[in-house]
Amino acid sequence: NRFAVIMAGGGGTRFWPLSRQNKPKQLLNLSGNDIMINDTILRYENVISIENTIIVTNKSQVSLLEDILLEQITRDNILKEPVGKNTAACILYAALYLHKKYDDCVMVVLPSDHYITNEESYRAVLEKACQLAEKTDNLVTIGIKPSFPSTGYGYINFNKNKLQNEAFEVNEFVEKPSFEKAKQYLSSGDYLWNSGMFLWRTSKIIECFQRYLPRLYKNMMHAYEDIGTDREQEAIAEVYPQLQNISIDYGILERSDDVIVIPGDFGWNDVGSWDALGGIFSPDDEGNIVKAKHIGVGTKNSIIFGNGRLIATIGIDNLIIAETGDAILVCPKDKAQDVKIIVDILKEKG
Ligand code: GDD
Ligand code: MG
Repeated sequence: NRFAVIMAGGGGTRFWPLSRQNKPKQLLNLSGNDIMINDTILRYENVISIENTIIVTNKSQVSLLEDILLEQITRDNILKEPVGKNTAACILYAALYLHKKYDDCVMVVLPSDHYITNEESYRAVLEKACQLAEKTDNLVTIGIKPSFPSTGYGYINFNKNKLQNEAFEVNEFVEKPSFEKAKQYLSSGDYLWNSGMFLWRTSKIIECFQRYLPRLYKNMMHAYEDIGTDREQEAIAEVYPQLQNISIDYGILERSDDVIVIPGDFGWNDVGSWDALGGIFSPDDEGNIVKAKHIGVGTKNSIIFGNGRLIATIGIDNLIIAETGDAILVCPKDKAQDVKIIVDILKEKG
C-alpha cells in the first residue's frame, strides 16, 4: 500500500501580496491550472491512488483548504498541526498516523507548492522510486541536476556506481550549504539538488526518528495512543508546543547512511518567489510574462500579475509588478527574494 503525505504548512511569504498569512503559496493558483496543492495531488494519479492522500497542515488553514481541496480527498485525512514545527515533526506525525492505521506501508512525502513541467516523466520516476521504497530499507530521494549555486536547497553527493532501478547510493547529503560550497558542488558535477520529495516505509522512518531525533520521537509518542481516536486533536495540541523545530533534511537525511537517490529530469521548479514564474510560463516576444489586464509601452522582461485592475507600464525593464486589489508590489526581478522583508515589516506593524 502506498500513501502520499502532502506537507502543506508553509507560509510562502515571498509571494506577497498574493500570499498572505491565511493564504499561503500552496493555496494559490500560479500556474493557471488549479491551486498548487490540487495540482500536486493530480500529478501522481496512477502512481498513488488519490484516495490514499494524507495532508498535514496548520489548523488555521484547514477551513480555507477544505473549501478548495479536491473532492476525492477524505476530510479525515487532513492532519491538523496546532503550530508549525517544521518538516520533521510533520513527517513523524503522518508516519505514526499511517503506521497505526495501515501497518507498515510506503509513504511518499511531497511538498505542496512545486511546479513540474513534464508530468509524464515525473510519474515514471515516481513509480521507480515507489518500487525501491517498497522493496528496500532505504530513504529514497529524487535528485535534480543543479543549474545555479542555490543556497536554499539540499545537495546530494552520489556514488556513480548504479544500484538497481536507476538509483544511486548517496555519499553525503548537505542541506542549504554556503554560497562557496554551493559553487564548488555545482562545478564538481557530483551533486544533485534535493527535490524535497522522499519515499520510505513507515517502519523505516519511525526507526530513524528513534535513532536520530530521539527527543522529538519521545515527545510525539505521548500522543500515539490517541492518534486515530476522538482524542487525537487534544493529544496533538498537548505535545506539539514541546517538539523540536527542525527540518527532516537536517534532522535525518544529513545523518543517515541509508539514503539513495534517483535522478529526475522533469522540469522541476520550486516556485520560490515571483521571479520563478519565468520557469513556468514562456515569456512573450518582449520577454514579459503578463497575467493581468495590461497595456505596455516599451515594457521588457517583466512579470506583471494582476487581479482585475488595468495595469499600464511605460519604459520599464526587469520589473515585477503584482496587484491584488488591496496592495501593489513593484520590485526589480533580482530583488524578488527581499519581498519577505516587506512581510516582516508588516508583521512588526501588526
Ligand atoms: N505541515 C507542515 N508543517 N508543512 C510544512 C512545515 C510545517 O511545519 N514546514 C514546511 N512545510 C512544508 C512547506 O509548505 C513545503 O511544502 C515543504 O514542507 C518544504 O518546506 P520548505 O520550508 O519549503 O523547505 P525548503 O524549501 O526550505 O527546503 C526543502 O525543499 C528544497 C526543495 O524545494 C529541503 O528539503 C531542501 O533540501 C530542498 O532542496
Ligand atoms: Mg520550499
